Amino acid sequence: MTVTSIGARCRLPGWESLERSAEQAAALIENGMTVGMSGFTRAGEAKAVPRALAERAQRDPLSITLMTGASLGNDLDKLLTEAHVLTRRMPFQVDGTLRRAINAGEVMFIDQHLSETVELLRNHQLHDLDVAVVEAAAITEEGGIVPTTSVGNSASYAILAKRVIIELNLSAPAELEGLHDIYIPQMRPNRTPIPVVAPDSRIGTPYIPIDPAKIAAIVVTDGRDSPSTVLPPDADTQRIADHLTAFFTAEVEAGRLTRSLLPLQAGIGSMANAVVTGLAHGPFEHLTMYSEVLQDSTFELFDAGKLDYASGCSITLSEARGDSVWGNLAKYRDRLILRPQELSNHPGIVRRLGVIAINTALEADIYGNVNSTHVCGTRMMNGIGGSGDFARNAQLSVFITKSLAKDGDVSSLVPFVSHVDHTEHDVDILVTEHGLADLRGLAPRERAPLIIEHCADPAYRPALRRYFETALRRGGQTPHCLEQALSWHVAMERDGHMRSLRDD
Ligand code: COA
Repeated sequence: MTVTSIGARCRLPGWESLERSAEQAAALIENGMTVGMSGFTRAGEAKAVPRALAERAQRDPLSITLMTGASLGNDLDKLLTEAHVLTRRMPFQVDGTLRRAINAGEVMFIDQHLSETVELLRNHQLHDLDVAVVEAAAITEEGGIVPTTSVGNSASYAILAKRVIIELNLSAPAELEGLHDIYIPQMRPNRTPIPVVAPDSRIGTPYIPIDPAKIAAIVVTDGRDSPSTVLPPDADTQRIADHLTAFFTAEVEAGRLTRSLLPLQAGIGSMANAVVTGLAHGPFEHLTMYSEVLQDSTFELFDAGKLDYASGCSITLSEARGDSVWGNLAKYRDRLILRPQELSNHPGIVRRLGVIAINTALEADIYGNVNSTHVCGTRMMNGIGGSGDFARNAQLSVFITKSLAKDGDVSSLVPFVSHVDHTEHDVDILVTEHGLADLRGLAPRERAPLIIEHCADPAYRPALRRYFETALRRGGQTPHCLEQALSWHVAMERDGHMRSLRDD
């Protein structure tokens, strides 16, 4: 790539004097600093500087607090963990090595609602940012940063940090410019309403406006995002999609929804992706999305002619889907928008638009409380992500899960969840491959039989029924036998499975 062609992407006069290698830029990050990096669900992360930082730490130990949008790709969390760079990490991750370090107590992980991190930072409730490292598709004449495949928290990190390192990624499609909509809410107490009134509302600038004097280094890169790891739909996820499609169809027939439904949000992972893909086969049209991560399913709905518009804060695609989308971005560009995650997940906007939220549970209990994060109440899986931002404020909050985990050794429906991310108040609809429990307007005593009979695996239903019957004899608004409530998890910790509860 010549300097002239770099110049088309980097239009800031005199940028050449700021060009640095990744190693030189990483040297600006000192031991003990708080660093904000771009990256959201393996999309748009700064790639070269964190890798150079991990390499440097092998020779010259240092540790930092690292904030991102969400998870990083290219094994960066793994490399940084192995190099012992991370003292504190927030607000989300999905990496196996980092997960082990978190669960061993070696890295302090702050699991946060993804809409909240920059609010806390802006109000100095978190340590101020020393450095921001942000991947860009272009830099404007005024030093504005055009993000790549995610916005995440990049805008506020760049605006709030003392110094900014930009990774200019020349392999990012040039058509990304114009896709983003950057809007930063005013400081309280003088904040005005955020004027997003529809998924396609454009209310900001197509770049992150920063003071160019803060740009400490520009690193020219060309690395790609890691492909997503979502699995194709299987028989169970197809059945979950079918139950949900039938439910939405009935809501349309009852006049509570139109055939366009309401703006859809779908969580991360294989299950949520499969369920959204399934909607392509329903009697729906002119759908929209107001979501966080746009996965393969968004583009499948576009290609099926079912989806009119999608708003998110990152685009994370499988290898095959990535090739077709990034090679043909012009085809989708006018129907897409990427916003900061505090806007894509904003509780007020989610409630204003009446979003239909579809998120995944690790486990749910007979009253509808949901655990999305902690295996056996203690071991972190990924984090709450944006699921809480959406679930509490959605017009319809749907949670999906397979009824069994670990080849049937574990029931995902239990007497009492071992950790609560989403309380019964935030769960309207619970769906497994066996059926759907519509919990709207029901008291806990009415919810339990529905959840047991519609959602639990038949092999675990008798034990759940026995638990509920015994609990009913104890009484209460939400009947429980406290000494048995977590006995299913105790069995799992003791035996490595819950098979003793099965009635085969
Ligand atoms: N007990 C123990 N482990 C369980 C379990 C249970 N009840 N249910 C699932 N698991 C395990 C699976 O075995 C699997 O483990 P593995 O990676 O070792 O194979 C893992 O959890 C992931 O489950 P999987 O069935 O592959 O589902 P998924 O990819 O759809 O992920 C969540 C499910 C809940 C982990 C994921 O959706 C998540 O992290 N959610 C929280 C954040 C969120 O909702 N973000 C979106 C907001 S926009």
